[in-house]
Amino acid sequence: MSALFEPRTLRDVTIPNRVWMPPMCQYSAAPEGPDTGAPNDWHFAHYAARATGGTGLIIVEATGVSPEGRISPYDLGIWNDTQVEAFRRITRFLVSQGTVPGIQLAHAGRKASTDQPWKGGAPLAPAAGGWQPLGPSALAYDAKHPVPTELTADHIKHVVGQFADAAGRALAAGFEVAEIHGAHGYLINNFLSPHSNHRTDEYGGSYENRTRFALEVVDAVREVWPDDKPLFFRISATDWLEEGGWTPDDTVRFARDLQAHGIDLLDVSTGGNASGVRIPVGPGYQVPFAARVKAETTLPVAAVGLITETGQAEKILSNGEADAVLLGRELLRNPSWARHAARELGEAVRVPEQYHRSV
Ligand SMILES: Cc1cc2nc3c(=O)[nH]c(=O)nc-3n(C[C@H](O)[C@H](O)[C@H](O)COP(=O)(O)O)c2cc1C
Repeated sequence: MSALFEPRTLRDVTIPNRVWMPPMCQYSAAPEGPDTGAPNDWHFAHYAARATGGTGLIIVEATGVSPEGRISPYDLGIWNDTQVEAFRRITRFLVSQGTVPGIQLAHAGRKASTDQPWKGGAPLAPAAGGWQPLGPSALAYDAKHPVPTELTADHIKHVVGQFADAAGRALAAGFEVAEIHGAHGYLINNFLSPHSNHRTDEYGGSYENRTRFALEVVDAVREVWPDDKPLFFRISATDWLEEGGWTPDDTVRFARDLQAHGIDLLDVSTGGNASGVRIPVGPGYQVPFAARVKAETTLPVAAVGLITETGQAEKILSNGEADAVLLGRELLRNPSWARHAARELGEAVRVPEQYHRSV
């Protein structure tokens, strides 16, 4: 059997193959009114297509644990029951297709309040429908972004509670995997990295202090998220800074801490927390970071970043570099990538009955 089509069980959830969809914001939810942040027809069609295409696990895009935790006013949110009800339609359909439904729980931190990317993605001032972003320290991401409000210790506890509430709602909405967004320069990443965290209290300074907020979120979510369901953490394994940033060594150390706190898989991405860095982008460019965590810890990992070819994906798994592959833009191009890969590898193809004449 190919490695790509071997099922994988984490806790009591069995994912039918290793072709997974990473979170990808659609910036397409209503920005105001009763349905603010709720998934709509676009989201249903988008996720449904990747499910009928045979994807093993779909991690729904970064979903705000609070209104101010959204990257843009158009992000999905999971802070009220209207949103939960709307997500149920998607999780029900994914399950009906044999796809495991996952969701990424997110707080955008100092990079919150921006416009849709296709409108330029610039920071949105409160007067233009945005809001004041929050961060560990009063340090802006770059010259275009506003200086965030530095969170007080009380406010940090409040945000930890928002993540826990969001996890409860994700469970009610029918999700079977939850992922905490600790990557790409958003709030948790802001706390982890000495580049963005200059605090002098118990949430800043040493490695232990900078990882405190992330681990408090993990603990609070793990308490709500049931023991039989897997909890993932997405990390930026490096800030890509020469010095003064989060490093791959930190990632390996933190992977062990995360596992001790009940995380079941590390989703290994990079970057997003420091502006102006050079990233050597190319096929599979982030795989070595996942492979290193895989080699040096016992925590399962997923690899992501320009994985597009069947042979490439199969090799990452059979070499033991990762436990699963996440295909982002390739699944946007080709929602049925898993089905094509299965055919190439001579595996039984999971095809909806309605499409059997296309096999
Ligand atoms: C349109 C788009 C939206 C994205 N949104 C998110 C997101 O919500 N959360 C996240 O962690 N990463 C996000 N990413 C990053 C992807 O999950 C993925 O890590 C990245 O695209 C690299 O994988 P790829 O080369 O297979 O596309 C997004 C990427 C794209 C292209």
